[in-house]
Amino acid sequence: MLRVSVLVSGGGTNLQAIIDAVENGSLAGVKIVSVISNNRNAFALERAGKHQIPAILLSPGDFPDREQYADALISSLKETETELVVLAGFLVVIPPRVIEAFPNRIINIHPSLIPSFCGKGCYGLKVHEMALARGVKVTGATVHFVDAGTDTGPIILQKAVEVLPDDTPEILQRRVMEEAEWKLLPEAIGLIAAGRVEVVSGKAVIRKS
Ligand code: GRF
Repeated sequence: MLRVSVLVSGGGTNLQAIIDAVENGSLAGVKIVSVISNNRNAFALERAGKHQIPAILLSPGDFPDREQYADALISSLKETETELVVLAGFLVVIPPRVIEAFPNRIINIHPSLIPSFCGKGCYGLKVHEMALARGVKVTGATVHFVDAGTDTGPIILQKAVEVLPDDTPEILQRRVMEEAEWKLLPEAIGLIAAGRVEVVSGKAVIRKS
């Protein structure tokens, strides 16, 4: 069993996709051992509660400094014997010490085809606003390992999604979630649980089953 903690800040539709995949058996060999949020009002915490998954509130603002916040995150992840950390709409920058404690064991979902529309300040609806402003005809989502940079870690999976002429950022965001994010994130976790992903020379390699 791969022990997974999911870090969230908002609605948690990606978390829900993971929970559903675990419960319907399409994501085998995975146990969600905790859901951690920086935001006490995150609906994602309610989703966790409904499925009897421990929901933990850890907000940087509740700690005297970033070091103590990093300590609390690491302690929580170690207590639950977390093996894989999944950032599913987590809006806090992960402290470097946490990344060092879980090398190639933290993954993130980003709502564009990296390296387009990513990096500092590119999150949420902004990503889709940028894609529409640039006039791209195809966007998508990316699951990648988290390294010390912003959206710079090894890419595990990507899926393209068409941009349509009448799209608003909200409509495009929804399509990217439905057609890409909610499929890609459980799929990436499944590949990692099956031991099929390794990082070689800074790139994620997926071995055939
Ligand atoms: C998603 O678009 C994800 O790609 C981004 O934040 C959003 C989270 O949505 N990182 P949700 O909380 O999973 O509904």
